[in-house]
Order: sequence, then structure tokens, then C-alpha cells
Amino acid sequence: MKKRSSSLSSNQYSSHRDLDDVVRRHQNFLYQRPFATYSHRQFDRINTLVNAYGGPVILDSGCGNGEAAYTLADEYPDHLVIGIDKSEAKISAAPARDAPSNLHLVRGNCVDIWRLAANANWPIRHHFLLYPNPWPKAKHLKRRWHGHPVFSSLLALGGHLELRSNWKIYVVEFSIALEIAAAHHSQVEQFSPRAPLTPFERKYAASGHPLYRLRVQLS
Ligand SMILES: C[S@@+](CC[C@H](N)C(=O)[O-])C[C@H]1O[C@@H](n2cnc3c(N)ncnc32)[C@H](O)[C@@H]1O
Repeated sequence: MKKRSSSLSSNQYSSHRDLDDVVRRHQNFLYQRPFATYSHRQFDRINTLVNAYGGPVILDSGCGNGEAAYTLADEYPDHLVIGIDKSEAKISAAPARDAPSNLHLVRGNCVDIWRLAANANWPIRHHFLLYPNPWPKAKHLKRRWHGHPVFSSLLALGGHLELRSNWKIYVVEFSIALEIAAAHHSQVEQFSPRAPLTPFERKYAASGHPLYRLRVQLS
């Protein structure tokens, strides 16, 4: 029998009291962490694909084994679907079937790839952030995507963004950060997937966790 996932534990019971400060501070300076050499190589390779394709792009950032990216590539045959994950082990555990021709899974760090892709103006139509690491300890706010200095590049990528998590506070904070950083209004909703899109969604749904999502049109 599959192990049930225990409920997430955090020392935070509502959105972080420093959220407003952190998001505003990141808006006021240019994030200049040097790019890893391998990020340039990985980006150049996918950038060539994006330019050659010439059509709309779907990003699945933190794609894990790419299960959702496979499904999206089947559902959107006229889009180029790019799944990015920093873990070689996760990418190597991709579903055991031939990848659709419009799908590419890439090992890469979103902190670098997003900045490079935003500068290159990729034509992103949809962007999925499916169950990002929640970093539930209060001291880890800046590791959550909305508390990270790369947040403005994530917004600059544009497209229809969908975030899913089993931690409501993560999604609520993300929604507040969208409002602060870009005056984007979004709703946080609880939902039940008809068919799980990812391994984490399957695990959480099977363990009876409530699931939350936010969808917003950027740019
Ligand atoms: C909780 S898992 C979710 C995986 C998948 N989306 C799912 O729902 O099954 C989070 C994933 O994000 C990836 N990740 C975390 N930080 C990342 C980063 N900076 N760049 C790329 N991937 C990252 C991790 O390697 C991990 O596979």
C-alpha cells in the first residue's frame, strides 16, 4: 500500500508578517546573482528550440518527473511544452513512454532560466507551478517563489499562471505578493482534481489533503 502523506507542519498560521516588506524590497532592486555557467548552456539549448518552434510555449516549472508536462503536451499539440526541474533524478524518472514531439524536459534552475527566458521574451501562453517546495518554516519566506528576488522575473515571463499547493498559506501569500508587485488581483480557491495532474497531487489527494490553486493572467 502507498504511504499516506502527513499533513504539512509549519510555525506560521497566517501569511508572513514580513511579506509586504520583502516583496516591496525585491521590487526596488535589480536581482543580479551571477548565472551558473551550465544555466547558459541549458538555456541556449532550449532557446534554440523555442526560436525554431516559433509558436506559443507552456512552462511547467519544478516539473518533477514531467508527468504533467506529458499530459499538457498531449492536450496542447500546437504548443511547445517545456518542463524544468533542477533535479537530474526527477527528470530521469520521466514516464515510461515516448515523449510527445512538442515536449522537452530540461534539467535547470528556474532562478536562472526564468531570468534568461524573460530577457529573451519567450512567448509563454501558460505557466504551471505545481506543488512548489512550500518551505513552511517562517524563517524560509525568502525561499518561497513570491519571497524570492526572482519573483519579478517570474511575473515578467507573462502568460496564464497557475499555482497549486496543499498549503493554503503559500497560495494566499502568492496572491498578496501578486497584488503588491504587479497589482494583479487573483482568487485562491480550494479544488478537487478530476484526475491528478502530478505525482504530488495524487499523493496529497489520496491522503485527504485539501488542495488550493490560484490562476492569473499576467502581462
Ligand atoms: C514538491 S516537488 C513537485 C514536483 C511536481 N511538480 C509534482 O507536483 O509532482 C517540487 C519540485 O521542484 C523542483 N525545484 C525546486 N527548486 C527548483 C529550482 N530552483 N529550479 C528548478 N526546479 C526546482 C524540485 O526538484 C522538485 O522536483
